[in-house]
Amino acid sequence: MKLSEKVALVTGGSRGIGLATAKILSENGASVIITAKNPDRLEKGVEKIPNSIGIAADIRKSDEVKNVVNEIIKKFGKLDILVNNAGMFPKIKQLHNIDEDEWNEVLDVNLTGQFRFTKEAIPHLQKTSGSIINISSDAGIKAYQGFNADAYSASKAALILLTKCWALEYSKDKIRINCICPGVVDTDMTKPFLNTQKDKDFMDNEHPIGRIGKPDEIGKAVLYFASDDASWTTGAVLTVDGGESIK
Ligand SMILES: NC(=O)c1ccc[n+]([C@@H]2O[C@H](COP(=O)([O-])OP(=O)(O)OC[C@H]3O[C@@H](n4cnc5c(N)ncnc54)[C@H](OP(=O)(O)O)[C@@H]3O)[C@@H](O)[C@H]2O)c1
Repeated sequence: MKLSEKVALVTGGSRGIGLATAKILSENGASVIITAKNPDRLEKGVEKIPNSIGIAADIRKSDEVKNVVNEIIKKFGKLDILVNNAGMFPKIKQLHNIDEDEWNEVLDVNLTGQFRFTKEAIPHLQKTSGSIINISSDAGIKAYQGFNADAYSASKAALILLTKCWALEYSKDKIRINCICPGVVDTDMTKPFLNTQKDKDFMDNEHPIGRIGKPDEIGKAVLYFASDDASWTTGAVLTVDGGESIK
């Protein structure tokens, strides 16, 4: 068991990549706390993850984020692992058609949300020499023709650089902070783009390995960073994308 006696918080753990990650961390011995904003989906997620609890929190609300970390400390006495996974994808639009509210919402969830959880978690991770894994995206590494989700790309690119900033800031506390950039993974987020066989074939072909990813393929990379197998790894950015970003 790579994570026995560890306490792990996975934001956005009710479905998709977060749910798969939470399951893998739990199967490897961690006590797992998942968050999401929708309480019904959160409850369903908890039922699928052994040794887990759910705490509802909208990542856009500082007081709710603070409450999650307080509740964890109250119940478990410590925090070892934070997976900054919660995220949203906007409507596809070219930049000149995005209104400011849409832009701000994406940054609020995908970037300021990660800031909120990290800020609350750090004082506890300082005590445990813990670890943070940020879930960014291939879209944070390079531009893709027709992708047209600029706020999303900006939020994910910022998270890559913040991974390196935070890794430097907190290495003296022995907190390791790493980042994963998935390609297209089969989740609710990407379902709208996989409606027809033609869409699916297109997405599969975008990835040199010949298919889109599965949520647990990201979860396994999270497990690596969270475990002692990565004890000398911090500030790293790992693409897990079937080769999409190297084209
Ligand atoms: N799927 C991909 O192809 C892909 C590729 C690259 C990167 N990523 C990144 O991977 C992460 C997970 O993506 P996914 O595909 O698993 O997404 P998903 O299936 O849409 O799940 C998103 C999760 O984030 C939570 N969430 C969204 N907005 C929230 C808010 N305001 N407050 C609290 N929780 C919120 C959702 O909770 P509710 O159920 O309550 O809404 C859900 O648990 C995201 O950061 C995404 O950008 C995904």
